[in-house]
Amino acid sequence: MRITVLGCGYVGLVTGACLAEIGHSVVCTDNDESKIDILHQGALPIYEPHLQEIVVHNVAAKRLSFTADLPEAVRFGDVIFICIGTPPLHNGDSDLSGIDGAARLIAQESRSSKLVIEKSTVPVQSGQKLSRALGIYGRNSQWSFSVASNPEFLREGSAVLDFLHPDRIVIGVGDQGSQLLLREIYRPILRQELLRCPVHDDDCPQKNPPELLVTSINSAELIKHASNSFLALKISYANLIADICESMGANVEEVVRGMGLDPRIGPAFLKAGIGFGGFCLPKDVQAFIRLGEKVGVDVSLLKDAEHINRRRIEGFLAKAAHALWTFKDKHIGILGLAFKPNTDDIRFAPAMELISRLLEERAHVSVYDPQAMDKTRALFPSIRYCADPYQLADGAEALMLATEWAEFKELDWARISRLMQRPLVLDGRNLLDRSEMERVGFEYHGVGVLSTAEAEARCAAMPLSPGAR
Ligand code: UGA
Repeated sequence: MRITVLGCGYVGLVTGACLAEIGHSVVCTDNDESKIDILHQGALPIYEPHLQEIVVHNVAAKRLSFTADLPEAVRFGDVIFICIGTPPLHNGDSDLSGIDGAARLIAQESRSSKLVIEKSTVPVQSGQKLSRALGIYGRNSQWSFSVASNPEFLREGSAVLDFLHPDRIVIGVGDQGSQLLLREIYRPILRQELLRCPVHDDDCPQKNPPELLVTSINSAELIKHASNSFLALKISYANLIADICESMGANVEEVVRGMGLDPRIGPAFLKAGIGFGGFCLPKDVQAFIRLGEKVGVDVSLLKDAEHINRRRIEGFLAKAAHALWTFKDKHIGILGLAFKPNTDDIRFAPAMELISRLLEERAHVSVYDPQAMDKTRALFPSIRYCADPYQLADGAEALMLATEWAEFKELDWARISRLMQRPLVLDGRNLLDRSEMERVGFEYHGVGVLSTAEAEARCAAMPLSPGAR
């Protein structure tokens, strides 16, 4: 099928490249010409595992191309996926001007009828508005436009895996024709009959084929917002438990493991730490809150989850301040900048707030991340960027681990301990093993987990309840 993808960000590029990978002819475009230039040079404007290889392979196979010519791109596809960003406005609403612009472009430039699919995360009823906009902008057009919603559930860092081996594909449609087209587009994935699998080198683990859920357009839009908000709730709940664990001398890792063994709860998204970041969860919760408020629904549950998340950095810094006494003139290294591992994305990354707060306190901040240094440099040009974690550790008085890159676990921590001015680690993701860190000489602080000595001290300091006296 001939497919156009509008938007070459994280979602658009993965969608376009993977649709080509399963056999479709795809043209991707973006109104940021610099992105198209980078793609024409054979590079990617983002880092995402496996994506580069898929792009190169499908460009060579002539199934994938990129153009900055928006009208040409629109005319190419029988189906158009809208993968345009919907960033938060100051009031928390999603900015839908990009989608409106896409509607105008499609309506005015099309030379055939199209199925227009929203993949961007949008508030419920956006499909209706998109349909109306296509009608208004295309009122003199002889072509017709159907609208469908096909929310993405791609996690950055494993987006290609998620696209090719999803748990579910949700399609929100208003007519039979759109449903048939979407079923046809996703047929290789629904049957798990891929031409090849770049993620597993063609040796894919046995997995049930994904479920195809066909809903109304409104429901599909809501499934996306409701899913991301629920994930945010789960993380904030784990962080609340972490705070209770720290106050009472329990271990959050043990508690969430025990909870997750109940299949009704499940183990995923119960990892305590310095909070959720990225361009999806924080903005989607905010937009969902705004949506609920507009229609008069009590959204205090979501507000609490957001509030807990906002306070994670404060709590983490309070712990650091307790260990360091003051931050002024202290040499502090931040290990990990991306909002999570396997991406270079720093949007709403907890590490960015850590840097800002430490600079406000006039600490000397050095940083290291395997992928996100260039993007961070654009935001904080004057901090020190280190070539590797050992340079970061050299002379530091504390290391703060903000992203759980797997390679950080494998570092020579004994060497790092020797290099540091003071061997102090604040592990914001509970990545490292406390006993191992203490064995090589570190003062180690995790999240929601105290050392045995700290737990005993906390217990001794606890006032006895009247009944226990
Ligand atoms: C999220 C959803 O997981 C995807 O399903 C969705 O498609 C995507 O948003 C989107 O809307 O496009 P993503 O933003 O890539 O994906 O990242 P997540 O894996 O959800 O992680 C979000 C944040 O939560 C990260 O900062 C991560 O470190 C944090 N997190 C995650 C925790 O603190 N604890 C956990 O247990 C899990």
